[in-house]
Amino acid sequence: MRVLGIESSCDETAAALVTDDGTVLTDVVASQIATHGPYGGIVPELASRAHMQAIVPVIQRALRGVEGGLHGIDAIAVTRGPGLVGSLLVGVQVAKALAWSLDKPLVGVNHLDGHLFAVYLQRPTEGKQPVPTMPYVALLVSGGHTALYRVDSFDDIALIAQTRDDAAGEAFDKAAKLLELGYPGGPVIDKLAALGDPHAVAFPMPMASRKTLDFSFSGLKTALARHVQTQGVPDGEKPLADVCASFQRVIVETLVRKSLLACEREGLRELVITGGVAANRGLRARAKEACEQRGIQLFVPPPISCTDNAAMIAMAAARRLAGGQRDDLSFAVYSRDPERKRGKFRRDGTLVERKPDAG
Ligand code: KG4
Ligand code: ZN
Repeated sequence: MRVLGIESSCDETAAALVTDDGTVLTDVVASQIATHGPYGGIVPELASRAHMQAIVPVIQRALRGVEGGLHGIDAIAVTRGPGLVGSLLVGVQVAKALAWSLDKPLVGVNHLDGHLFAVYLQRPTEGKQPVPTMPYVALLVSGGHTALYRVDSFDDIALIAQTRDDAAGEAFDKAAKLLELGYPGGPVIDKLAALGDPHAVAFPMPMASRKTLDFSFSGLKTALARHVQTQGVPDGEKPLADVCASFQRVIVETLVRKSLLACEREGLRELVITGGVAANRGLRARAKEACEQRGIQLFVPPPISCTDNAAMIAMAAARRLAGGQRDDLSFAVYSRDPERKRGKFRRDGTLVERKPDAG
């Protein structure tokens, strides 16, 4: 079965063709960085307009060379939330129009499921990707979300902990803005951090207590703002690299420590790290080292699968579609994640109370 995935939840217009075993046949991502760059962050109105312009050419490119073109697909999957409503509507309406006119099944996908199941994608360009065995712990770390999940099955995903304020990607983006490094901040800080001393500036380690698995990154952002206020924006590549390395170290250490603590508490020995921030080289290297020390098996998708893409959306829907399921074409979009509430397990679609976190 060949599934056309469509993703337009934020600032990337994406389409991909994926088989139901996760093989990525085509994958197209049109980034809006040039549109939002001058504003230092995403402007929702501009994002919706850019999606309108890009969506049809992006889908056409994803189907280029595919036998039968649009008629060669078996099903469609589209992100229905969480995300920017104006952006989501573009992808969802195109997906519905295609599903209706082609009479193909359509499934609406939670973007976070897309990130979580990106680990099952097989990209011929990346060689054979090892996949985890359920149950496992998953750290989803992106621009909008930072959370730990326990994944027991495709339908049984429990939120264990999440950020109390900013997401890690948001912290990177805000830091880059303060350091006048442009948008998005993650990739540029990642690059600079590799050249700096991670112990040059003593930023506070947030939520350092082992009592809680929750994250918090707004205090770190404030500490950086104070540093810039008192010392000014670092002048020259080395001082700038030192600040970036010190800032990144705190985020990476926090993410790795909490992930390992989650594995310990859940009694699990497999960890998946996914989402845009999982493209960070510092995080990938530190997580690998720490997991090797603890005998935990680590699975991190290649960077191209970590940042927003439509292949992961097709992947997240593939099992349902292969099982003959489809959504009614009247489904709505949602801006916030309605499915995962703190301290609750989702089992077979029902929410079950879970013991609240000690912190
Ligand atoms: O998953 P994603 O593409 O979109 C969301 O669902 O949010 O994540 C985007 C976030 C941005 O905040 C971006 O700065 C961050 O991921 N990011 C990185 C790196 N690449 C992207 N953060 C740290 N290091 C990177 N190499
Ligand atoms: Zn995302």
